[in-house]
Amino acid sequence: MEFKASANSQVDSWKEVQLLYSSALKEINTKLEILNDEFQHVHSYNPIEHIKSRIKTPESIVKKLKKNGYESTIDNMIQHVNDIAGIRIICSFTSDIFEIAKIIANQNDIKLISVKDYINNPKPSGYKSFHMIVTVPIFLSNKSVDTKVEIQIRTVAMDFWASLEHKINYKYEGNVPEEIRKELVDCAHMVADLDDKMLSLNEQVMNYSLKQDESK
Ligand code: GTP
Ligand code: MG
Repeated sequence: MEFKASANSQVDSWKEVQLLYSSALKEINTKLEILNDEFQHVHSYNPIEHIKSRIKTPESIVKKLKKNGYESTIDNMIQHVNDIAGIRIICSFTSDIFEIAKIIANQNDIKLISVKDYINNPKPSGYKSFHMIVTVPIFLSNKSVDTKVEIQIRTVAMDFWASLEHKINYKYEGNVPEEIRKELVDCAHMVADLDDKMLSLNEQVMNYSLKQDESK
């Protein structure tokens, strides 16, 4: 696929776009691995269950640009498509989500571009997740380019819900019957209750271990 780039563009080919965004994924992935190792070392527990990352396909980038009324150029994709590089972090507990988000945003090479808190403000569909758009500097031989990454952070339960909802939407091509839509909203409430209960159970267990340690 060939995309047009303007003469004064900092990035001038699709190959370079791919290089930058896949490097940005590597940078963020390494940061997350380090954090997880540190947590394991200090607290003997992993806040991150697993991480998925992907680069948006050129077809999907073109589709998004078209949908939003932009011509398919390198400049437009860099400026207007925030999720060319996407990372999904799956945690055990809701509290881990905010902890990880805060730690990443505070790293001094990271610039926080925007935040969407669909955990405290779920979508009408029932969707819950914490989204951040950040940039991370990518150091090439002759320049450094701040490159955008969309980070989605959610619990295992929220991820289970979002995957099924996505599949259902895809099957019905967006026209999900009202009954199923309602059932999905009900499921989202159950997921939220489950997450709350698991968090409180975990807190009880942590307090118990703490007391055991103190009495030793
Ligand atoms: P796009 O949806 O990517 O065009 O971006 P947006 O500007 O609407 O941003 P938003 O942060 O709302 O959504 C970004 C991404 O979150 C989507 O591409 C999905 O991966 C995910 N997402 C958002 N809403 C839903 C939802 O209702 N269901 C599911 N399964 N995923 C969602
Ligand atoms: Mg998207």
